[in-house]
Parts: sequence; C-alpha cells; structure tokens
Amino acid sequence: MRANHLLTVGISLALLGGVAANAADVNVAGAEGLTKKSGCMTCHSVTQKKDGPSFKAVAEKYKGKADAEAALFKHLTTNPRIKVDGKEELHDSLKTKNEAEIRNVVSWILSR
Ligand code: HEC
Repeated sequence: MRANHLLTVGISLALLGGVAANAADVNVAGAEGLTKKSGCMTCHSVTQKKDGPSFKAVAEKYKGKADAEAALFKHLTTNPRIKVDGKEELHDSLKTKNEAEIRNVVSWILSR
C-alpha cells in the first residue's frame, strides 16, 4: 500500500517536471514552419538583416526587457504600421489563430 502510494507520488512529480521542462522549451521546427508558411522569411532571416531586422537583432534589442513577449505578441497579431524602404506598410501577422503557436514563435525569436 505504502510503496504503491510513493510510486504514485514519484510518477506525478516526474510528469510535473516534464510539463515544466516542455513549457520552457521552444519547438524550433514548429516556429520555422509557421514563419515560413506566413511569409516572414522574405523580409527576415535569423542572422542577416533584410527588409526587416534579423531575429538575432530583435532578441538583442529585447534582452532583459520584461515586456518583450507582450510586445512581440502584439507585433505579430495586430498588423502594426511599419516602414519598408521608406514606404508605409502593414506588418504581416502569423497565419494562425492558435495562441500557443504564436507564443512559440515569440519565444523562438527571443531565444535566437
Ligand atoms: C514586407 C516585409 C516584412 C514581412 C513579410 C514581415 N516583416 Fe517583420 N518586420 C519588417 C520590418 C521592416 C520591420 C521593422 C519595423 C520597425 O522597426 O518599425 C519588422 C519588424 C519585425 C519584428 C521586430 C518588432 C519589434 O518590436 O522590434 C519582428 C519580431 C518581426 N518583424 C517578425 C516577423 C514575423 C514573425 C513575420 C511573419 C508573420 C514578419 N515579421 C513578416 C518587415 C517584414
């Protein structure tokens, strides 16, 4: 009985640990797939400046800022006005309504 109970507690802790670890992990393949599908990479690259800043530069800009995730989440869901080559345009949003997928791309960019 007692051994059984300890086993259950052990398994629950292991499961909790697994969930916590996954939440901190970025699904890189998912983020790359969604940014490709959404056309982001025509203006961005992880390391090179194109029309838009490199994602490394974005991660650098937001390093240590508490509002980083909220700012990028907003940037990628609300089509803010930006300038491309001096011309005003609306910034594209990610082609998904799934909040977890959007947050995953934000974490991916911020961890470049
Ligand atoms: C037509 C070109 C273009 C496309 C397509 C585009 N972007 Fe951008 N993006 C820009 C430009 C230009 C800026 C800089 C805007 C500024 O600083 O005002 C920018 C800025 C950003 C930033 C930094 C925002 C900040 O607060 O500093 C991120 C992150 C970003 N884009 C991600 C994405 C993602 C993800 C996609 C796909 C959904 C995407 N972009 C599609 C041109 C583009």
